[in-house]
Amino acid sequence: MDRNEAVLRELNLYPQWVRRNPPAPVVAEQSVPVTAEVEAIAPAAAVAPVSGIGNLGWAELKQQVRDCTACKLRAGCTQTVFGVGDERAEWLFVGEGPGADEDAQGEPFVGQAGKLLDNMLLAIKLRRGKNVYIANIVKCRPPGNRTPEADEIATCLPYLQRQIELIKPKLIVALGKTAATALLGRDAPLGSLRGVWHDYRGVPLLVTYHPAYLLRSPMEKAKAWQDLCLATEVMQKIPDATQKL
Ligand code: URA
Repeated sequence: MDRNEAVLRELNLYPQWVRRNPPAPVVAEQSVPVTAEVEAIAPAAAVAPVSGIGNLGWAELKQQVRDCTACKLRAGCTQTVFGVGDERAEWLFVGEGPGADEDAQGEPFVGQAGKLLDNMLLAIKLRRGKNVYIANIVKCRPPGNRTPEADEIATCLPYLQRQIELIKPKLIVALGKTAATALLGRDAPLGSLRGVWHDYRGVPLLVTYHPAYLLRSPMEKAKAWQDLCLATEVMQKIPDATQKL
C-alpha cells in the first residue's frame, strides 16, 4: 500500500472519492467584525484581554505568551503552547486548545487528533511546517480537556490575532466549533458554518470538523474531505498580490 492510499484509507476515503461538479464556494453573506462579537459572547466579568501586543514581533510575542498569567488556565497547565509551523505560511489551521500530549510537548496537535490532522494535511498535499501554520484559540490546556470558557477565549484571542497579523495567511481553516465561534464571533451549529467561506479580518476562513470529533465519528470524515477540497479550491482562487507585503 503506498502512502497516498494509506492516507485515503485513514480518512475513510478509499477507493478514492472524486467530486463531480463541485459547487462553487459560496461567500458568506456578511463579514463579521471579530473583536466586537467576541466581546459580546464574553461574560461581563471577563478578565481583560491581554493588550499592548499589537506591534510585537515573533520573539516578543512568544515571550509574552510564555510569561502570560492573564487567565486561570495557566495555573493548571505545564506550559503554554504557542503554535508551530511556517511563520509565512499560506495555510493556517486553528484548533481549540492544547490537550495532555500538547501540554507535555509544547506543540499543538501532537496526540491522536494531531496524527489525523497530519493525514488530513497530507490528503491535500500539505505537510506540517511547510507552508502550514497550526495554532489554537487558547494557549494553555484547559483542565481535563474541557472546552475553554468565554472569558479564557476572550483573554487569549489577541495572541492568535497577532499571530495572524504576522503570518498573513491566505486562508484560515477553523477546526471545530470552538475555533469557528471564537474567530467568527458568533455561535452557530458547525454544520451551518461549513461549505461557505467566511471573512476573518479580510482573510477567507473555512470551517470544518475538529480531528478529535472525527476520531469519535469516523463517518463524518467524508464531510471533512469535502471541506478540504473546498479549501484547496478557494486557495487556488486567492490572488497572491495581497499577501506578504
Ligand atoms: N486539540 C486541539 O484543539 N488542539 C490541539 O493542539 C490538540 C488537540
